[in-house]
Amino acid sequence: MPVYRAGRTGADVARERGIRGAVKLASNESPHNPLPSVRAALEVAIGDINRYPDVKAARLAAAVADQVGVATTTGVAVGAGSTGLLLQLAEAYLGPSDDVVTPSPSFEGYAFAARLRGASLVRVPLAGSQADVAAMVGAITERTKVVVIAEPNNPTGTLVGGEALQRLVEETASRCLLVIDEAYVEFARGADQLDAVACARRHPHVVVLRTFSKAHGLAGLRVGYAIGDPAVIAAIDRVGAPFAVNTLAQTAACVSLGAGAELWDRVDAIVERRTRLERALRERGWSVPDPRANFVWLPAGSASRSLASSLEQHGVITRPVPDHGVRVTIGGPTASDRFLNAFASCVDQLELTTAWQLPVADDARFVLDVLDELELIDRVDGFAVDDAARARARAAVADLVAGELHGARRDVATGALRRVAADAGGRLSKVVAPRAIAARLPPQSPHVVPTNSGQ
Ligand SMILES: Cc1ncc(COP(=O)(O)O)c(C=O)c1O
Repeated sequence: MPVYRAGRTGADVARERGIRGAVKLASNESPHNPLPSVRAALEVAIGDINRYPDVKAARLAAAVADQVGVATTTGVAVGAGSTGLLLQLAEAYLGPSDDVVTPSPSFEGYAFAARLRGASLVRVPLAGSQADVAAMVGAITERTKVVVIAEPNNPTGTLVGGEALQRLVEETASRCLLVIDEAYVEFARGADQLDAVACARRHPHVVVLRTFSKAHGLAGLRVGYAIGDPAVIAAIDRVGAPFAVNTLAQTAACVSLGAGAELWDRVDAIVERRTRLERALRERGWSVPDPRANFVWLPAGSASRSLASSLEQHGVITRPVPDHGVRVTIGGPTASDRFLNAFASCVDQLELTTAWQLPVADDARFVLDVLDELELIDRVDGFAVDDAARARARAAVADLVAGELHGARRDVATGALRRVAADAGGRLSKVVAPRAIAARLPPQSPHVVPTNSGQ
């Protein structure tokens, strides 16, 4: 029987290694206590727990429908976390002769749900740190019942973005279900995202999963929801255990959905800390893929297990994915510094520079410069960069950071930066940013395709 492996806890580390006071950055939880408004509502709701919960979670389903903009609650299923909903989906749709196609590595719950039903999981390797949509499409056969993709992906934190995901939507239509797992959607922030809910409204084979465990900080209460075609939602609901979503979970989720700034200030703080950590790593010469969730991915390859073990020895619990990387959750205000100090202490003992799957040292710093230039383009007044041009520029950098830089040299980075400059320059009314970029470019090497920098 498959076993779901949860992240290690401070208690595990204290018991097994005698290390006390370790910080847990292993399960992508929120570091915050419940919102004051949620806590207050829970204190009232606790007075009712002698009664069974609302079996339909009707108030929560209506609040979700209202917030995401689906017309009726027949398009919303509430469940015991996304994991509970995944198991219901598996129960409703999968059997021993079926395949589930998913990127790999990705969230372990997919393998768990598929195997529980005796279905086979077809793992499609990531391209760099990102789901390879073309290869996923290629892996679909008549056995494929479900394609599931986490957007952003866990553990790498990358987004495939609207264009690629739209292709997956089209290629799966009338062939199988497409589950878009948006567990981390609140942290993703960007014009390159697909509006997955709109997609689920238009396409009956698309199901979106969301959870209150991450941005809403309610992992311990176990509540999430699915949005999809009423027929799919009915199939999910039919196999749900009665009363699986308890009264406290329903209450907390309703209040959290309506919390507004109280919640978003916290999410913003996590995104800010994520940006600081991402930057600190790149400044120290360690490239990381663009993080779009509440964690950062260290592509430590063959050194992943030993890196996580050494970090743990220094009191920082992370999540290794052996031979791929180490996932570090963004924690409270001091957690990233604790991680960075622990990381600095590990670096020398481990063969990290050879194992690291993205550029290190000068190449990594160059990536940081590229990103700085993009920020400059974003900030300078008067630039009439339309969203599409901006998205293309970002995509060029995403390629640079996430995929093509595997073993790449500065020339590749330079070429991509020139493309960014050209992309931006072609659509700008001023030329200062492309010039600023050009001024920072190293001399062009002969095999980089020259592009018009827009000046
Ligand atoms: C991509 C993804 N989906 C779903 C989940 C599970 O969330 P829940 O707590 O709602 O079961 C996780 C948890 O880590 C996740 O990373």
